[in-house]
Amino acid sequence: MHPCVFIVFSLFLLCLQNTTANQLVTLRGGGDANGVIRNKCLDKERDALLQFKANLHDPDGSLSTWRPEEDDCCAWEGVWCDSQTGHHVTDLYLSDAGLVGNSFYGTIPPEFGNLTKLQRLSLQDVGRCRVENPQWLSSLSHLKELEVDGISLAKANQWLNVILNLPKLSDLSLDGCELSQVMYPYSSSFLNSSSSSIEFLSLRNNNLTSSMYHWMFPLTSNKLRFLDLSSNMLDGIPKYLGNLCSLESLSFDNNSAVVKVPDFLNNLSSGCSFLTFQDLSIRRSQFTGSLSDEIQKFSSLKYLDLSDNQINGTISEKLWELPLLKKIDLSQNHLSGTISKNIEKSKALYINLSKNPLQGVPFTDHMSNLSYLKQIDLRSCKLGPHFPRWIQKLENLTRLDISNTSISDTVPPEFWKTQFDYLNLSSNNISGKIPDLSSILGNIPAIDLSSNNFDGPIPHLPPRLASLNLSRNKFSGGILFLCQIVDGLLEFLDLSHNFLSGQLPDCLWHFKELKVLNLGHNSLFGRLPPSIGFLIELEVLYLYQNNFSGQLPLSLKNCTKLNFLDLGANKFSGNVPTWIGENLLGLYALILRSNNFFGTIPLQVCQLPNLQILDVSRNNLHGSIPSCLSNLTRIAQEGFLLPPNVHPYTCRFETFALFNLPYPTEEEYVDHAMIEWQGDEREFTRNLGLLKSIDLSSNNLTGKIPHELTNLHELLALNLSKNALLGEIPQKIGQMKKLLTLDISRNSLSGGIPPSMSQMTFLGYLNVSSNNLSGRIPSSTQLQSFQPSSYDGNSGLCGPPLSRKCLGDEESQVLSVVGKSEGDEDLRWFYIGGATGFVTGFWIACGTLLLNHFGRRAFFHFYDSFRNWVYQKVVVFITKLRRISRM
Ligand SMILES: *[C@@H]1O[C@H](CO)[C@@H](O)[C@H](O)[C@H]1NC(C)=O
Ligand SMILES: *[C@@H]1O[C@H](CO)[C@@H](O)[C@H](O)[C@H]1NC(C)=O
Ligand SMILES: *[C@@H]1O[C@H](CO)[C@@H](O)[C@H](O)[C@H]1NC(C)=O
Ligand SMILES: *[C@@H]1O[C@H](CO)[C@@H](O)[C@H](O)[C@H]1NC(C)=O
Ligand SMILES: *[C@@H]1O[C@H](CO)[C@@H](O)[C@H](O)[C@H]1NC(C)=O
Ligand SMILES: *[C@@H]1O[C@H](CO)[C@@H](O)[C@H](O)[C@H]1NC(C)=O
Ligand SMILES: *[C@@H]1O[C@H](CO)[C@@H](O)[C@H](O)[C@H]1NC(C)=O
Ligand SMILES: *[C@@H]1O[C@H](CO)[C@@H](O)[C@H](O)[C@H]1NC(C)=O
Ligand SMILES: *[C@@H]1O[C@H](CO)[C@@H](O)[C@H](O)[C@H]1NC(C)=O
Repeated sequence: MHPCVFIVFSLFLLCLQNTTANQLVTLRGGGDANGVIRNKCLDKERDALLQFKANLHDPDGSLSTWRPEEDDCCAWEGVWCDSQTGHHVTDLYLSDAGLVGNSFYGTIPPEFGNLTKLQRLSLQDVGRCRVENPQWLSSLSHLKELEVDGISLAKANQWLNVILNLPKLSDLSLDGCELSQVMYPYSSSFLNSSSSSIEFLSLRNNNLTSSMYHWMFPLTSNKLRFLDLSSNMLDGIPKYLGNLCSLESLSFDNNSAVVKVPDFLNNLSSGCSFLTFQDLSIRRSQFTGSLSDEIQKFSSLKYLDLSDNQINGTISEKLWELPLLKKIDLSQNHLSGTISKNIEKSKALYINLSKNPLQGVPFTDHMSNLSYLKQIDLRSCKLGPHFPRWIQKLENLTRLDISNTSISDTVPPEFWKTQFDYLNLSSNNISGKIPDLSSILGNIPAIDLSSNNFDGPIPHLPPRLASLNLSRNKFSGGILFLCQIVDGLLEFLDLSHNFLSGQLPDCLWHFKELKVLNLGHNSLFGRLPPSIGFLIELEVLYLYQNNFSGQLPLSLKNCTKLNFLDLGANKFSGNVPTWIGENLLGLYALILRSNNFFGTIPLQVCQLPNLQILDVSRNNLHGSIPSCLSNLTRIAQEGFLLPPNVHPYTCRFETFALFNLPYPTEEEYVDHAMIEWQGDEREFTRNLGLLKSIDLSSNNLTGKIPHELTNLHELLALNLSKNALLGEIPQKIGQMKKLLTLDISRNSLSGGIPPSMSQMTFLGYLNVSSNNLSGRIPSSTQLQSFQPSSYDGNSGLCGPPLSRKCLGDEESQVLSVVGKSEGDEDLRWFYIGGATGFVTGFWIACGTLLLNHFGRRAFFHFYDSFRNWVYQKVVVFITKLRRISRM
């Protein structure tokens, strides 16, 4: 869909904001809305529509008004008729109606050819429909707009001929119509001239290569104004586009072939089109080369978006001289060097140069013209070490992003007088205190000052704050300032990793939109205030490492959208509330570690359908381990609710340059948590959503390990250590084949190590020490690979890797055999522990790295190939062992 269409549609929706959905339906079914005289529509037109409906699934009932017994098809949903007579259907608009083409019968019926007065046919994304013989289209000689996005024309070899014979067609949208699969049987005879009247042409997402420019030629004429070729595989544009003297807008986003910028600009400027050309968008494509002086020819250019390409070299100084240019987005390229002083001449309102290895912006003190500038984004360019003072000259600046720009300085006091809507100074080395900002920031501001060295108290802030990130600084003092943010717009608040102290004030009534509350790693204390129950949109509550105490307030159960709750490393006490399991049903992570909770583990926790991470370690819990933990389906079954640990929030309103409409943009917050992993505390971030772990360690739990736990087939980490557990290790523990880390040390477990444990081929960390276990350690590629200390403090255990021999074992028989067997390098390596040690060492070294740095797909791809490798090694091992024992 073209942006203009989108905007018009949005405006339309805006106008309708106050009308109800019902009214909207009536309007869209608009026969009456247009003041049409309600005569009966023509039978053959009505039949054609019914024929079409018969080929569709209509799960939402969008076409429920299309009934054979209803004579007047002009009253049907999506149908408009001639406003004079009401007999003829003139508009058919069924886009986005939720219709699903029946994959078998979903052809557009040739009966559509009976809709002879049709001016507009809009059937975008009507499921998997297709057109096989497009001849019926040629009867629609009044057609002005044809939008059939998502309908396959792969078999419609004659479509171009038919389209070219529609004399009035001005608006043609064929996005996603599989045009690359069409056999084009045309001679070149008619390709030399074009009498097409098309003004708007969209051919997005058709997998087209540049050979399509042959057949596109006759569709283009000097009437063409908008051309959208996005999401194809085009490697440039033909010169003839440069000769289209009305061309205003070209979208070339998301093309996957490499194109050189100078060649592209050359072709586009070869004729007359550069005189009219206003809007060029080439985002997320494969453009290389430099932004050359060619650009100066485009004197009408208003909007230029070349973001996310591989454009390199320096930016042509001519760019800044284009007199009408309002928006320049060159972000995410490889542009280098310094920027020409000519930038001071630019009249742009919006400049985005972020994520380029640019070396400095030569702004000087006598910049007059740039005061037009409203938004500038220089993220990850190099501006420092001094704070860029020229910014203060930009009197109309409302949006500034100079994050990660190597600034190591203080902020000049005058800077804070600017009326920012969005201010991002994060990831620099900026120090100093911040003045009272309550009256000097703009409208609904979003502020990110994280990862700097700001100190002193947090200043007064405006009441209309949208998001605030002050994390990883040296702020001190209390957080009473929160009570001044009263306009209820705050969605995001991160004050973590500072030196804040004092209590969380009981004034949270206003934060009805708050999604993320992160106060971790401070020195806050006292009880959680009851008004926390007003945070009904809260998804993340992270209070890790503070001094909060007392029982959890009952009102917290109001926060039913919580999915990440980390209250670890505090002094909370009381029972683990039963309402957590009854009310906070969205939780995927429940982390209460290192507190003073007492009582038993409430059974209600087992009812949390999405729980993946349960950590109640280091508390004073007693009683037995609930066997119902096997009810945690998210841990028992494969799959993830993805990504549960990523929380998008609206961080600012940007101006949509074309029409100056504001639109919200989103950022995301990614959960992180300290988890005990293979004997160490580690911070999990991006991959937290992949973790499935249960940690009940360091409590006073008693009784047996319930055998039901072994049904948690997808568990990756289990820690039951430092409790008072009795009885045997469940025989079927080996069913938890994915376990990477298992710690049941320091209990009073007895009996043997179950043979099934030899199936746990991924185990990278095992600790069963300090129990009363006895008997032989089962042989497997894994169990012998651990250090003897993993088994220490069990006087009855014997066999490798312990030096204690089991009763009746001959002295190192197997080892000596192996030693004699020449050519069995592999086996010796295995048995002595080399290979298995490698397996383990590999997991300790890389497993965690992997979990921290790779995405889910990469991880599981790896997991699979690793598993194959291990199986292969095991098979070799067993075969050789058999051979040796026969010797
Ligand atoms: C009109 O519809 C009739 C059937 O109702 C069909 O036979 C005829 O081919 C259609 N005419 C056109 C031009 O498609
Ligand atoms: C089209 O142009 C080609 C060469 O440019 C020429 O060979 C062909 O005859 C032309 N066709 C017509 C119909 O003019
Ligand atoms: C796109 O075209 C290429 C050949 O040009 C073909 O190999 C590929 O399968 C096509 N992809 C789709 C999604 O049609
Ligand atoms: C980019 O183009 C490909 C086809 O070439 C399409 O599958 C994909 O959805 C497009 N991406 C976007 C963001 O439009
Ligand atoms: C830009 O990149 C191309 C290849 O991608 C390379 O040949 C060229 O030298 C680079 N130009 C500059 C100025 O770095
Ligand atoms: C800055 O904004 C003010 C108020 O909107 C306006 O009057 C002034 O012309 C603007 N300055 C420039 C240079 O655009
Ligand atoms: C729960 O939220 C509602 C508003 O949705 C509020 O009226 C009520 O007082 C809250 N309950 C508690 C216990 O905070
Ligand atoms: C666990 O699941 C079983 C069977 O689905 C059910 O009978 C039992 O009530 C559940 N226990 C809890 C505590 O939810
Ligand atoms: C653990 O529980 C037992 C009895 O239930 C009690 O005697 C013992 O003091 C408790 N230990 C701790 C550390 O709370």
